[in-house]
Amino acid sequence: MNKTILVTGGAGFIGSNFVSCERQRNNRIINLDILTYAGNLLNLEQLNGDPDHVFIQGDIRDRELVGKLLKGRQPDAVVNLAAESHVDRSIDSPESFIQTNIIGTYHLLEEVREYWKSLPAERREQFRFLHVSTDEVYGSLGPQAPAFIESSPYAPNSPYSASKAASDHLARAYFHTFGVPTLITNCSNNYGPRQFPEKLAPLMILNAIEGKPLPIYGDGLNVRDWLYVDDHCEALHTVVEKGKPGETYNIGGRCEKTNLETVNALCALLDEMIPTSRHVPHCSLITFVEDRPGHDRRYAIDCSRIRAELGWRAKETFESGMRKTIQWYLDNPAWVHSIKTGAYREWMLRQYGAGKNEDTPQRASK
Ligand code: NAD
Ligand code: DAU
Repeated sequence: MNKTILVTGGAGFIGSNFVSCERQRNNRIINLDILTYAGNLLNLEQLNGDPDHVFIQGDIRDRELVGKLLKGRQPDAVVNLAAESHVDRSIDSPESFIQTNIIGTYHLLEEVREYWKSLPAERREQFRFLHVSTDEVYGSLGPQAPAFIESSPYAPNSPYSASKAASDHLARAYFHTFGVPTLITNCSNNYGPRQFPEKLAPLMILNAIEGKPLPIYGDGLNVRDWLYVDDHCEALHTVVEKGKPGETYNIGGRCEKTNLETVNALCALLDEMIPTSRHVPHCSLITFVEDRPGHDRRYAIDCSRIRAELGWRAKETFESGMRKTIQWYLDNPAWVHSIKTGAYREWMLRQYGAGKNEDTPQRASK
């Protein structure tokens, strides 16, 4: 039977891709998003006119609104993707991370608890609250250390990861204390269409297309584990359908790369996909800039559990996923143009040097 799902943060990067995947499965979506700089209705253009996708602009901290939505729309599941998500912004200014990621998740959990209690027994049994989190809560790995497993200790190092860790603990506590059927997923770095170009992959793709420098923090040897966004969305769907309440599932691409390897791979793909560009070879645009404070050295996810217990595995390879991603940015100049105004420009100037030549990026000193 089709489900009604309340998705929070559904106008952001992963949220908009998740909502599209769920509509393809014919699940009804109530999409609650406050539309911060990262939320964008253009991300939902493909659903214009779809009566089974209802968008509501609002805050997960607004208890009255969330309560009304739950009572009025009667969802079978809530998937919480609303968040402040960028590590550099959390270093610049942690307040909104505390507000949305911690306080927001708390308010949402409280309203979900009330709603869940009011459901008839069979629906209460089937209801799910999926809290979408990150591998960054586990901290940083040494070069030879085994990948993070679900029981790895939490050791968050940035205001972002600390706020996500706090929200994970709340989701876990609502299961253990109140019985609310919460599930938590901790995923590695995503890439794909509609990602805001403050994050590594889209920033590098768009700068390279425009012939701008590609700013690599520190020595470029920090390692991230990459996953194509649709594979993440498929994993979230699987956890809602088959996951065991109270449990955590790690999600990752088994695709560890240094940032330098990632950027070089993107440059090589761009050389091949836009061979007539005057910026070929794009790797000549690579520039080393000051490191991120407290920069975690390595993340790697062991996703054996979700594979063994729920049967999920990633479908895209790094190359096939990055190729699709680059093609999307090439095919969507209107989206890129709309993003490259106001808030985004201000952030780039603050982060990589206000008043300096935009072509010589450096991290602005904090
Ligand atoms: P994003 O920044 O692109 O999107 C976040 C969305 O949440 C935006 O649309 C924003 O408007 C909305 N939002 C923010 N505050 C809100 C509030 N108070 N009320 C309602 N909506 C609000 O983020 P993303 O990259 O899509 O990440 C989504 C979730 O997945 C986050 O929880 C993040 O921690 C997690 N995650 C992301 C990645 C990644 O690589 N991007 C990897 C693992 C986990
Ligand atoms: O691991 C999952 C996390 O991945 C998510 O929880 C976060 O929401 C998401 O933003 C991402 O965090 P990272 O900090 O790993 O992503 P980001 O794209 O900001 O950076 C990836 C790596 O690239 C990191 O080591 C920093 C580096 N970097 C980033 C930027 C923006 C650069 O070298 N230069 C840059 O300009």
